[in-house]
Amino acid sequence: MKLVLLGPPGAGKGTQAQHLVSSVGLVYLASGDILRAERASGTELADQVAGFMDAGRLVPDEIIIEVILNRLPDATLGWLLDGFPRTVRQAVSLEKALIDTGKGGIDGVVEIRVSDAVCIQRISGRRLCPVCNRVYHTHASPPAEPGRCDDDGTALTQRTDDHAEVVKERLRAYHETADPLASYYRDRGLLQAIDGDRDAETVKMAVMNAVAAIRSGDISSQAQLGGR
Ligand code: AP5
Repeated sequence: MKLVLLGPPGAGKGTQAQHLVSSVGLVYLASGDILRAERASGTELADQVAGFMDAGRLVPDEIIIEVILNRLPDATLGWLLDGFPRTVRQAVSLEKALIDTGKGGIDGVVEIRVSDAVCIQRISGRRLCPVCNRVYHTHASPPAEPGRCDDDGTALTQRTDDHAEVVKERLRAYHETADPLASYYRDRGLLQAIDGDRDAETVKMAVMNAVAAIRSGDISSQAQLGGR
C-alpha cells in the first residue's frame, strides 16, 4: 500500500506515522526528517534548504521534488509519505514519477485536520529523541523520566523551528497550499479526512479505520471528517 499523510505542523503526522508504519509494515519517508538529516551531515543540500526551514517557509518545489523522488522505495514495498507532497506541483510530480517508473499510483491520502490553536499548543510541548526520532509531549505523552527517551535514555531536544514566531510562519505557509492540495486528492477519490483534535489514541483508531477503508477500496463509505 502506498499512502500519503497530510496535515498542518503539529497535527500529529509523525506521531500517527510511528503507529502506522509498525502496524501496517510500511517504509516511512518523512520529508522534514530527510531535510534535517541532510542538514546535520552538512551536505551541499544543507546550505540550500537551511534558510527556508529556519524561517518556517517551504523549501522550493524544484529542490524538494528531486530529494523525495530520488528516495522513493522499490515498487514492491508499501510506503508512507509524511510531509510530501505539500503543493499541487509536488503532487503532480509524484504522480508522474510513479507512472513513469511503473510503480503504480498511490492508494490513499489521510488528512489529519487540527486547528491552528491546538497545533501551536502541541508544538510548544513537543520533545524529540535525537537518536531514535521518537516524539514526546511534555503533557500529552511525557517520557517516564523527564527529559530522557524511554527507549535509549538520550536527552530529549526541541526542534529549532519550533519557536513561536517560526511556527506562525509554518502555519501560514501550510494554509497557502493546503486547500488546493486536499482538493487535488479529493477530486481523485483518494482523500480521507480525520478529525485530529482528539487524544492520540482516538486519532490512531480513526487513522487505522481510514487506512482499512483505503485498503478495501471503499473510501466513500468512510464518514468524511470522522472515521469514528
Ligand atoms: P516537517 O518536519 O514535515 O514539519 P511539519 O509538517 O511542520 O510537521 P511537524 O513535524 O511539526 O508536526 P507533526 O504533524 O509531525 O506532529 P507530531 O506528530 O510531531 O517540515 C519541516 C520543514 O521542512 C518545513 O517547515 C519546510 O521548511 C520543510 N519541508 C518539509 N517538507 C516539505 C515539502 N514537501 N515542501 C517544502 N518544504 C518542506 O506532533 C506534535 C506534538 O503533538 C508532539 O509533541 C506529539 O506528542 C503531540 N501530539 C500528537 N498527536 C497528539 C494528540 N492527538 N493529542 C495530544 N498531543 C498530540
